Amino acid sequence: MKIPKRLEPLVQEGLIDAVLGSLKSGKEAAVYVVRAEGVIRCAKVYKAVDQRGFHKQSLYREGRQVRSSRQARAMAKGSRYGRQEQEDVWQNTEVDALYRLAAAGVRVPQPVNFIDGVLLMELITDADGEAAPRLNDLELAPEQARAYHASLIADVVKMLCIGLIHGDLSEFNILVDAHGPVIIDLPQAVDAAANNHAPWMLKRDVANLAAYFGQFAPELLTTSYGEEIWHLYEHGHLTPEISLTGHFKGQHRTVDLDGLLHEIHDADAEEMRRRQLAQDSDPLDAESVSQ
Ligand SMILES: Nc1ncnc2c1ncn2[C@@H]1O[C@H](COP(=O)(O)OP(=O)(O)OP(=O)(O)O)[C@@H](O)[C@H]1O
Ligand SMILES: [Mg+2]
Repeated sequence: MKIPKRLEPLVQEGLIDAVLGSLKSGKEAAVYVVRAEGVIRCAKVYKAVDQRGFHKQSLYREGRQVRSSRQARAMAKGSRYGRQEQEDVWQNTEVDALYRLAAAGVRVPQPVNFIDGVLLMELITDADGEAAPRLNDLELAPEQARAYHASLIADVVKMLCIGLIHGDLSEFNILVDAHGPVIIDLPQAVDAAANNHAPWMLKRDVANLAAYFGQFAPELLTTSYGEEIWHLYEHGHLTPEISLTGHFKGQHRTVDLDGLLHEIHDADAEEMRRRQLAQDSDPLDAESVSQ
């Protein structure tokens, strides 16, 4: 296929030998299959700031480390430079999370390189070597659903043990290869210790898993792994090897009102942006996806 503009520098530098196809152009990024130094890999090209939804970003950003007070001031002001800095933090969060998670034994694509806003990583494949399907595309037998659910819960626990929460975990951000589920798409990953919204984000991630796998194995619908995991984490008892019951007898569940209000406000703002964008012409893919 024709080389997309954003991949040209990497081709010129010899980091990519050939662009073999376009996998998907999502909200946040365009994803390509490439050959890089002789190996078939995946290249995730982040979309420019103004082409992306900023849905709920402030929630995820809370507690994130920035490099300098200058960067923090620029980000707070929302200047052009500040927006670029925010963008860098967003992309770096994903790269950083992938390296940390791979090292902690969580099933994620192994990152290879990150240059000019392009993340080169392992291509997750199916048994035929084709790009792996998303969990959402599969019909599962009950035993399979239970096994995948258990493996993902174990990954969520390992993640939290190194202080991270996915923050957007669902059947759409999980691929399935011959060995089982692989978690992807982490630019919004949340620092569990520094973000006040961490508890409900963790519980929502886990609830999404129960709801999805519960379609195939209904007994999962009444589990409360999220509450159990967070309780253990909060009390310093969570370890990667811990065995969970799936049930939690907490006294009360507190509602994070502040987080809820944020969500409502951000969803409104996002909807307005969408309407505005729909009025303008769509500049999204002018550069890419020509075969
Ligand atoms: N390492 C990978 N191996 C195989 N396929 C991948 C890989 N990374 C991403 N993909 C494919 O590209 C799609 C988009 O990737 P990702 O979810 O990271 O980006 P996104 O822009 O956030 O997409 P979306 O808006 O759909 O969530 C995935 O659903 C998956 O099909
Ligand atoms: Mg995604």
